[in-house]
Amino acid sequence: MSILKELEQDLKQIVKEAGYEVERLALEESNRKDLGEYQLNDAMQLAKIYHENPREIAEKIAKKIEESPRYEKINIAGPGFINISLKETYLCEIANRMKEDIFSNIDKKEPKKVLIDYGGANVAKALHVGHLRSANIGEALKRLAKLLGYDAIGDAHLGDYGRPLGFVIQEIKERYPNLAYFDENYTGNYEEIELPITNKDLETFYPIASAKAKEDETYLEKGREIAAKIQNHEKGYYDLWKKIVDISKKDIKETYDKLNVHFEIWNGESDEMEYYSLLEEKCAPFLEDSNGAKIIEVKEENDIAPMPPLLFIKSNGSVSYETTDLATILGRNKNVHPDEIWYVVDGRQSLHFDQVFRVAKKAKLIDENQRLEHVGFGTMNGKDGKPFKTRDGGVMSLKELMQIVYEETYKRITNASIPEEEKKNIAEEVAIATLKYADLLPFRGTDYIFEVEKFSDLEGKTGPYLLYSTIRMKSLLKKAEDMPQEKVKKLKGSVEREIILSLLTLPVVLNKSIETKSLNEIAEYLYRLTSLYNKFYADNRILTEEDEEIRESWIALTQLVYQVNAMLLNTLGITVPNKM
Ligand code: ARG
Repeated sequence: MSILKELEQDLKQIVKEAGYEVERLALEESNRKDLGEYQLNDAMQLAKIYHENPREIAEKIAKKIEESPRYEKINIAGPGFINISLKETYLCEIANRMKEDIFSNIDKKEPKKVLIDYGGANVAKALHVGHLRSANIGEALKRLAKLLGYDAIGDAHLGDYGRPLGFVIQEIKERYPNLAYFDENYTGNYEEIELPITNKDLETFYPIASAKAKEDETYLEKGREIAAKIQNHEKGYYDLWKKIVDISKKDIKETYDKLNVHFEIWNGESDEMEYYSLLEEKCAPFLEDSNGAKIIEVKEENDIAPMPPLLFIKSNGSVSYETTDLATILGRNKNVHPDEIWYVVDGRQSLHFDQVFRVAKKAKLIDENQRLEHVGFGTMNGKDGKPFKTRDGGVMSLKELMQIVYEETYKRITNASIPEEEKKNIAEEVAIATLKYADLLPFRGTDYIFEVEKFSDLEGKTGPYLLYSTIRMKSLLKKAEDMPQEKVKKLKGSVEREIILSLLTLPVVLNKSIETKSLNEIAEYLYRLTSLYNKFYADNRILTEEDEEIRESWIALTQLVYQVNAMLLNTLGITVPNKM
């Protein structure tokens, strides 16, 4: 149980000893810190229940609080607000408890199993900014969920199914018609064929092919036919498809690794389509014909916005994106059976998920008590307020974006003592931190503007500021290695108090964050705590402080803040380099 909760229970007990019962006592941070650090507002409520004067109740409670060794500056304001502060000895005790085990200051949630779908990269297509947001938010949510006691599992859910791959293979066929994959009479082992194609080539094929298909009806038809051949596991085509998936997956993995994003499950849509016949069976009672297509009505009585039917099978016989997601639910239920599935996907796909979730419920693909949730997010925009594009107006690939940020962070590493190779590595790590922090700082649903100079500034509310400050704490601790640093024994200034009080609120921050499934609270908190610490650092000469008890306390406090920063940065998926 967090210390804050413990404090609330302690006060609840004190109120009881004063003769009153409160159901839940909430310790509110006071906005008049000169009167007290916390405020208790329960006297007014109790007055109604006990038919007594609120001020008198407050006085009786205050008297009891006086008897406790934890509180000081107890006073009553207005009709019966009780202001209290924490005693220095008690603050030191709290700090030491947290220092011993920072995880003890976290309120764990009721355990449950959550599957988080936050990959969605498409095979043989370059990852783009939308995939970056899924990855950042999803990975951090997964880490947060685990921190709070959930069993959380990440699924990459690669887009490896359907027409795009048909087009890519069609394009390969036009360029390399003599490949054995296209030779019906080939009897050799497909796995031994050397494919003269790199991942880079693959990424260029799809845009070319899809442009051709728009102009050329026969090309389009051929692409479709190939997609069908893949789906039917037809010899040659299916083997080439597998090869392409392998090449692409390797590259996708590398990119996710760089981002410090790791999935427990690496299934693709095609793996989940194994459950298609079961799905069809379960959905059969709801399927309707519509101009050769099969649809399922999902409109509900109270709908205000238009709710078109879910497209189950297109009129050309191919399976829709919705259907792959439905089959996936069955697959996940068979293999993982999660209590909840969170889809961390662009907010613009909300209609898609509404439809899918409604069918999942209607066709009983999930149990009564399973929950599906679309954790949508806003777009990263350019200065024009539209989704961030390349200079020539194309979709910004994730690699291009990472390069832009890398160039900026590289420029800013001015430490001449760092050798060139190391400098590049550090710049890369800082670039990822820059991107991630900027991406997690706004509420996830809000759009934000990509401003590389602002995001990489060492002085602002940025990833580099947090890294720099955290590294500085670490190097102070290294220098203090041989000095006493066991305990916080006394406090000298008001900033130290503020730091400890701020650490007390951490469980509230984590809780808000998991409730909103957004990392902004944690990102803001990290900035607040780090800034407080930096103020303390600037005000004091920690290592040369003459009073030994104070010096020990300061080093211990530094250790505590360092631990919390490291824990929270790690929760956001941000790695702290050794220097920068
Ligand atoms: N592959 C899709 C895309 O790039 C994203 C998939 C998101 N996840 C899902 N279960 N639909 O748009």
